[in-house]
Amino acid sequence: MAMNEQLTPRAIVAELDNYIIGQTEAKRTVAIALRNRWRRQQVPQDLQDEILPSNIILMGPTGVGKTEIARRLAKLVEAPFIKVEATKFTEVGYVGRDVESMIRELTDRAIRMVRQEHEAQVQERARELARERVLDVILPTPPASAIDIENGPPEDAAQKESPTRTKFRERLRDGGFANREIEIEVQKEQSSMLQVFGPMGMEEMGMNLQDMLGNIGGKRRKKRRVKVSEAEELLSKEEASKLIDMDIVTKEALKRVENSGIVFIDEIDKVASRASKGGGGPDVSREGVQRDLLPLIEGATVTTKHGMVRTDHILFVASGAFHVSKPSDLIPEMQGRFPIRVEMHRLSEDDFYLILTQPRNALLKQYRALLEAENVLLDFTDDAVRRIAHTAAKVNDDVENIGARRLHTIMTTLLEDLLFESDGSSPQQISMDADQVDERLDAIVRNRDLSQYIL
Ligand SMILES: Nc1ncnc2c1ncn2[C@@H]1O[C@H](COP(=O)(O)OP(=O)(O)OP(=O)(O)O)[C@@H](O)[C@H]1O
Ligand SMILES: [Mg+2]
Repeated sequence: MAMNEQLTPRAIVAELDNYIIGQTEAKRTVAIALRNRWRRQQVPQDLQDEILPSNIILMGPTGVGKTEIARRLAKLVEAPFIKVEATKFTEVGYVGRDVESMIRELTDRAIRMVRQEHEAQVQERARELARERVLDVILPTPPASAIDIENGPPEDAAQKESPTRTKFRERLRDGGFANREIEIEVQKEQSSMLQVFGPMGMEEMGMNLQDMLGNIGGKRRKKRRVKVSEAEELLSKEEASKLIDMDIVTKEALKRVENSGIVFIDEIDKVASRASKGGGGPDVSREGVQRDLLPLIEGATVTTKHGMVRTDHILFVASGAFHVSKPSDLIPEMQGRFPIRVEMHRLSEDDFYLILTQPRNALLKQYRALLEAENVLLDFTDDAVRRIAHTAAKVNDDVENIGARRLHTIMTTLLEDLLFESDGSSPQQISMDADQVDERLDAIVRNRDLSQYIL
């Protein structure tokens, strides 16, 4: 289910709270924008088409959660999501070309997403069919020639199956034979080598050499020797893809892109400088990028290899630090298309403390889980966590503010020895306190040059 009724703005914010610390205003805003889309879908068709998505600009320094919010949001509502960098389109040769490729990529992702959902729905049936194929290998049915030709096949040969097969099927279902090796025939993974040679311009037309050539000579099959458990896995996938109807998947995916797709345009501020009078050079191409983006954001039809996609109701979230330029430096049409602006805040030491410990995927939890793989139980005292947070804030102040990303660099430095030494040879319990944190980091933190390189 994509966007359901229960996902009220409040519920969306609560979900985001599981991953992102602070930034309340930004969370509220994106939640509203998202809910508005669901609301729009409840509106009568003629009015529906009039309601424009509330595109958003997220402003704020690096590493404070701009991308993270958008990414989590998309995940939450199972919306197709893509992140692009506005600056990518300023590179020589990119100007005026290919902004539409983001919609194509988004569509590909939607297809993959919907396809997986459909496959999940037929998973059980697919597994049953896969087991039958495994059974065919373990217990081959007697070849036709073995059947008495004079008298024809015995009555009900098709329906009746041998008791052995029934028994084997049960054993198979209970995980029997799992380690036995069998030979199966599977569809060959198609190499993507061909794509490399695709002539320029091909992609723009929404074509793909591979698709065109893919069917020449039919689907290729390949014999593989694998364990029964793996065979079940492989064959299930194959059966699942046979069970689903790609036409329906495609239709649904296109609809989902159009109605709930999210495009995240990073570094929008870098293409926002107002063209200086008479000046050529980079400013022209920057404005050029905005002009290229504009039609997509205003609503255009993009041809993809899966069909036409209207971009009118795709949600665009733009983001940037806006240190030098301001949203008002964007061309007016662009500004009009991003009516909502939210400022994201610089993260404090207290935020870092929470980021280390609270999110579902909190860094400390991640490292703990990693080391648990080798039976090392890693704990930090509360003081130790505070020291890490403090150190991160200090290095951000002294060297360069990279936001929460600083926590990553600090943690890897802090745990380097442990991560290197740990080899699973003996279970350990390690509790790190503030002194140990200081001991490991102090020298680096105090030396500005050193921290520039290391932290
Ligand atoms: N408020 C936050 N709460 C939890 N984690 C955060 C927060 N802000 C950033 N992070 C973590 O820091 C990392 C970088 O965040 P993110 O990619 O969102 O930065 P950004 O704001 O998009 O920066 P940039 O402008 O450089 O793209 C991510 O791993 C993210 O999980
Ligand atoms: Mg980002």
